[in-house]
Amino acid sequence: MKIAVVGKGGSGKTTTAAVLARTLARQGKDVVALDCDTNPNLGLSLGVGDLETERLLTLRDQLDDGEIDHAPSWDQILDTFGTNAPDGVRLGVITRIENPDPG
Ligand SMILES: Nc1ncnc2c1ncn2[C@@H]1O[C@H](COP(=O)(O)OP(=O)(O)OP(=O)(O)O)[C@@H](O)[C@H]1O
Ligand SMILES: [Mg+2]
Repeated sequence: MKIAVVGKGGSGKTTTAAVLARTLARQGKDVVALDCDTNPNLGLSLGVGDLETERLLTLRDQLDDGEIDHAPSWDQILDTFGTNAPDGVRLGVITRIENPDPG
């Protein structure tokens, strides 16, 4: 199941996404939370803390600047660039998706 949380600015998207992710994880679901906001702060709402939230954001900049290499598969992306959030949620920060295909 894939759930996208969208809406106007300040309408509660991040809070809703975090509550959904942690609630589903507590129910035993395998949850990957992806923060696609250009100003990503889902990590704060999920409870990973300021420093880790900031670290995930800087990874994108490092990739864009060629300082670190892209991961070749979905699993490796999550392993390399994700972080563990409370309740077993795995968090990844995307910030933006360029030229997405239909999948
Ligand atoms: N159900 C709710 N009831 C009351 N306040 C809420 C609720 N959900 C979120 N809030 C509060 O509303 C504010 C905005 O919430 P949030 O940051 O989740 O929105 P957002 O849509 O992600 O905002 P942005 O567009 O800036 O990313 C926060 O202060 C949050 O604590
Ligand atoms: Mg938000």
